[in-house]
Amino acid sequence: MEIRDIRKRAGKDISVAVTAEEINAVRIKYLGRKQGEITTLLRSLKDLSDVEKREKGPLIQNLQNEIEASISFKEEEIKKSGSITDITLPGKRVETGHLNLITQTENEIRRIFNSMNFSVIDGPEMEEEYYNFDALNIPLDHPAREMWDTFWIKSKKGDSAQKKYLLRTHTSPVQVRYMQKHKPPFQVISIGKTFRYEATDATHETNFHQVEGLMIGKQIPLANFKFVINEFFRQFFSEKTVKIRLRSSYFPFVEPGVEVDIKLDNSRWLEMLGAGMVHPKVLQTVGYDSREWQGFAFGLGVERLAIIKYKIPDIRLFASQDLKFIKKF
Ligand code: FA5
Repeated sequence: MEIRDIRKRAGKDISVAVTAEEINAVRIKYLGRKQGEITTLLRSLKDLSDVEKREKGPLIQNLQNEIEASISFKEEEIKKSGSITDITLPGKRVETGHLNLITQTENEIRRIFNSMNFSVIDGPEMEEEYYNFDALNIPLDHPAREMWDTFWIKSKKGDSAQKKYLLRTHTSPVQVRYMQKHKPPFQVISIGKTFRYEATDATHETNFHQVEGLMIGKQIPLANFKFVINEFFRQFFSEKTVKIRLRSSYFPFVEPGVEVDIKLDNSRWLEMLGAGMVHPKVLQTVGYDSREWQGFAFGLGVERLAIIKYKIPDIRLFASQDLKFIKKF
């Protein structure tokens, strides 16, 4: 058919044209106002019957648009490069993306805990108030609620009045969700986003990431935690020894509770995680016999780990979209 033939020839002519003159000649050959092949075809429509006009008209019109677009594209290309066949032009460097430093750090964390036989679990970022607080022994009237400044989600019409949603302030609710569904013994970690409605500074962000760890068994004292966390730091920082200190601290869902600081190069201490022995009340909430089972839990800041390992001066750089920073890692 004529249309198909023109399309094929025009395509070929456009692709071999390399100069402005050549592409212009192609334009005249097909779209020229006097004798262009398409123009002639369109003009011949008037001799056809109505039925044929309706059938062929749009096909020719489409072909015209198509050829017009290809020619314009080629003209643009020629304009940009002078001559597109100039093989002496320097090549363009192709920019490739790479994994963000947070993702790289998370992968490293997963690798180390996997090597210690921890499995990885997941939980929702938009969480129910119950899992973020109540089930962790932080009832509504508990002053400890103020330890976590919270972003609340507006409830939709029809949501039950009891179920309030929030952006999880820590990864600890994942513990509860997991224990409800699984029987001990086990050792798991969960890595993910956490959110707090608080003022930012060089070590505090509103959006950050935590690693939650949970190990439950018949005989899992705090000494196990000390070993696990030491081993983790040792591998993460690729050092024989990392100086850490345990300070006694308070979290409603553990007893006793500790905070772990790490010694920086400038010999100051930076808080890295909260931890402790899972509180019997939490164990009972998920239906475990707290005389039979015990274990530890911890919550570790992912950005804080990266800050130390890569000597990052300010946590806010992670979300700054500063390409110089992003490309450095
Ligand atoms: C908690 O979030 C507890 N859920 C941790 C925990 C888990 C305790 C299990 C006991 C048992 P905390 O608010 O201290 O605790 O936060 C834990 C870690 O997250 C901190 O040590 C710090 O490394 C990091 N972190 C906390 N707030 C911020 C923030 N605004 N920006 C960046 N990192 C933060």
